[in-house]
Amino acid sequence: METDIIRARDYLNEGQLVAIPTETVYGLAANATSTKAVQRIYKAKGRPSTNPLILHFSSLAAIRPYTKEIPEEVEVLAKAFWPGPLTLLLPKSGLVPDIVTAGLPRVAVRIPNHPKTLTLLRQLDFPIAAPSANPSGYISPTTAAHVKQQLGDKVAFVLDGGPCARGLESTILGWNEDGYPTMYRKGVITAEAIENVLHRLPENHKSKTVEAPGMLSSHYAPHTLTVLATDVTMAINEQQGKRIGLISFEKQYQNSLHGIQKEMVLSKDGSLEEVAQKLYAAMHTMDDGELDVIIIEKVPETGIGKAINDRIQRSTQ
Ligand code: TXA
Ligand code: MG
Repeated sequence: METDIIRARDYLNEGQLVAIPTETVYGLAANATSTKAVQRIYKAKGRPSTNPLILHFSSLAAIRPYTKEIPEEVEVLAKAFWPGPLTLLLPKSGLVPDIVTAGLPRVAVRIPNHPKTLTLLRQLDFPIAAPSANPSGYISPTTAAHVKQQLGDKVAFVLDGGPCARGLESTILGWNEDGYPTMYRKGVITAEAIENVLHRLPENHKSKTVEAPGMLSSHYAPHTLTVLATDVTMAINEQQGKRIGLISFEKQYQNSLHGIQKEMVLSKDGSLEEVAQKLYAAMHTMDDGELDVIIIEKVPETGIGKAINDRIQRSTQ
């Protein structure tokens, strides 16, 4: 086993914080069965204790003891999407400390798809609790460098697994009181992809209450004022006189429009997968760029475009 994974394992066994790579974003990990270790996560992130954490496992068999039951649809979803960017809300068993779920009766679980983190999880005899490894409310990290910049002094170790392949936080799915699949957070696993295997289309969770604070508006935001643009030309004109950073979808605007200080085109081929993968890194770069405003171009509202626009929208609030 690689020495960095051994170091990560040893720190986690001691109850320390370790940043871990996943296919979505980097996580800030601790032993989920230790209230003391989990408290360190909330403290390091400045996260309200009312906002629950996702547990990460290496297999469905490892998940079982931490839940009361595994409904059949979970088995179907696990087969189709795990390891992968899907988090499921399941009734928790007594093995899950209350601090992990912020007192809620359900626990969020997923099997991340990253070789280093899967190897690490197999070395541990507990699941790891891991929110995104950013200070609460800031942009999620998609590289080890992002984590070091934001939380470097607060973690024992950063396990470097390269840039995250998918780039957006996992899709969160649960079941409502009637047992109907409900989506709490959009991600690269779309409602349509879930419908394909469950043969029913998940509905969007509506209520803005306790259940998933990550669904509330002020999230993933750069420090710099950020705006979403449907029409880039108009947005640039509205911000004239300011130092403007533009994150565009597939087209370059800098040659034809005046006043753009810095521009990053996310996918010259118009690939939404590529946009998802690069979006947060672009937001990080722009936020370090001494700009007055960051304009982010809206992407087509199809497939994973919905999750991308959702994150851009949240970054503007
Ligand atoms: O892709 C991801 O999911 C990443 C990687 C590290 O796995 N993790 C992540 O964690 O995005 P975090 O904490 O930044 O976002 C988790 C979201 C939060 O909005 C939280 O409120 C919600 O999941 N959540 C966690 N447990 C929950 C529960 N028991 N009931 C309802 N919502 C829950
Ligand atoms: Mg987060």
